[in-house]
Amino acid sequence: MTQDGSTERAGSSTDGFVSIGGQHRMPPPQDTLWRSQPRVLIKHQVYRHYLQCWMGKICRSFDQSSIVDAFSGPGQYLDGPDGSPLVISKTFLEHSAFSQFNTLRFICNEKRADRREHLTRKMKELPPSPKLKFHSAEPAGTADTFEVLDALAHGGSRKDIPTLWILDPFNLAGVPFELIQKCLRRSRDEVLITWFSDEIYRFCEDSSKANAMSSHFGGDHWKSALEHKGETARKEALLTAYQDGLRSLGVLTNAVSISSRNETARYSLVFATHDDRGLECFNPVKWRLDPVKGSTINENRGMQQGDLFSELPVVEELRAYLESLAGEAASFLSLVREAQRMGYLEKHLRTTLDELAVDGRAVRETPLKASTRWPAESVIRFYPPA
Ligand SMILES: C[S@@+](CC[C@H](N)C(=O)[O-])C[C@H]1O[C@@H](n2cnc3c(N)ncnc32)[C@H](O)[C@@H]1O
Repeated sequence: MTQDGSTERAGSSTDGFVSIGGQHRMPPPQDTLWRSQPRVLIKHQVYRHYLQCWMGKICRSFDQSSIVDAFSGPGQYLDGPDGSPLVISKTFLEHSAFSQFNTLRFICNEKRADRREHLTRKMKELPPSPKLKFHSAEPAGTADTFEVLDALAHGGSRKDIPTLWILDPFNLAGVPFELIQKCLRRSRDEVLITWFSDEIYRFCEDSSKANAMSSHFGGDHWKSALEHKGETARKEALLTAYQDGLRSLGVLTNAVSISSRNETARYSLVFATHDDRGLECFNPVKWRLDPVKGSTINENRGMQQGDLFSELPVVEELRAYLESLAGEAASFLSLVREAQRMGYLEKHLRTTLDELAVDGRAVRETPLKASTRWPAESVIRFYPPA
């Protein structure tokens, strides 16, 4: 059996990996606990940074909010690190604004009873707090038990409780597009999905996997990525196709990828939200972990990546967008929104505007006087090159 439940010819090797179709891949662990890998810690780093911001905004402004860790795992790795439910709980309990927080419902779902039991024991080791309401759902597959989880998150009658869905399965079969669609049906809900670039790249030319791919993408638009040659370009095109599917639901999306030695994405963390304020939290995480491109974290360089680079951030797409505004004027705030939707930060917008201003291509039209170059209320006029 492979990760997606289908059968493939596999040859085993001594390192715990199986070789399938010439590829070297690891089957999902069978024991209750398994060892961590660098990418697990990077994923948790992304969760932590994102939750710092999400909790700071949401848990203070709303009297109730929810997080659903829908593939929670056992809460611990064999070699020591915390699993995601502990990472999430500690981020809440140790947050600098904790004293101002309201109630967080924290719902975990895990298909395997042994892993759920281990998690329940681990959660009991945390200092109790009336603000953190932990609930461990009866073991079931997330797609099958979605309505139960949804009711727990939204408190039955309270449909407006903002909910963050964390979807972290072992393989793409765990997250059909239909499930994502349901998670996003309420305007305050957001999702953070582990997205399997390697597996999807492997499957995309295998006709026996076409249905599984379409179910995951919510259509067969992924096939357009086959026009792209080369692993990196094709993986990028597949991710873009997936995000296009999300956009067709009317949501905003961004992603950060985790790569290994050859720098192509192994997997990505895909974020989707209804609200620009969601991107305000997600985009800084990407740029913090990849200060140059804000897109890819290398699992070998890991969290030190930022220190190894001294190059400037890559803002080509943003610059091209601003240049395309030649002949028009735009408010600074509308530019911030567009930059953010492209995955950039306000600081990138400011420095790119500075560069364009040097060439006379961006000029502040109003206000006439200001203490900073691009105040929030400013209107900026763009010009073609001299
Ligand atoms: C990648 S692990 C989760 C790791 C955890 N989120 C963390 O970061 O520490 C995926 C977990 O989902 C569980 N699982 C697999 N299929 C599932 C399903 N359909 N519904 C719910 N849980 C599932 C597995 O038993 C496994 O513990």
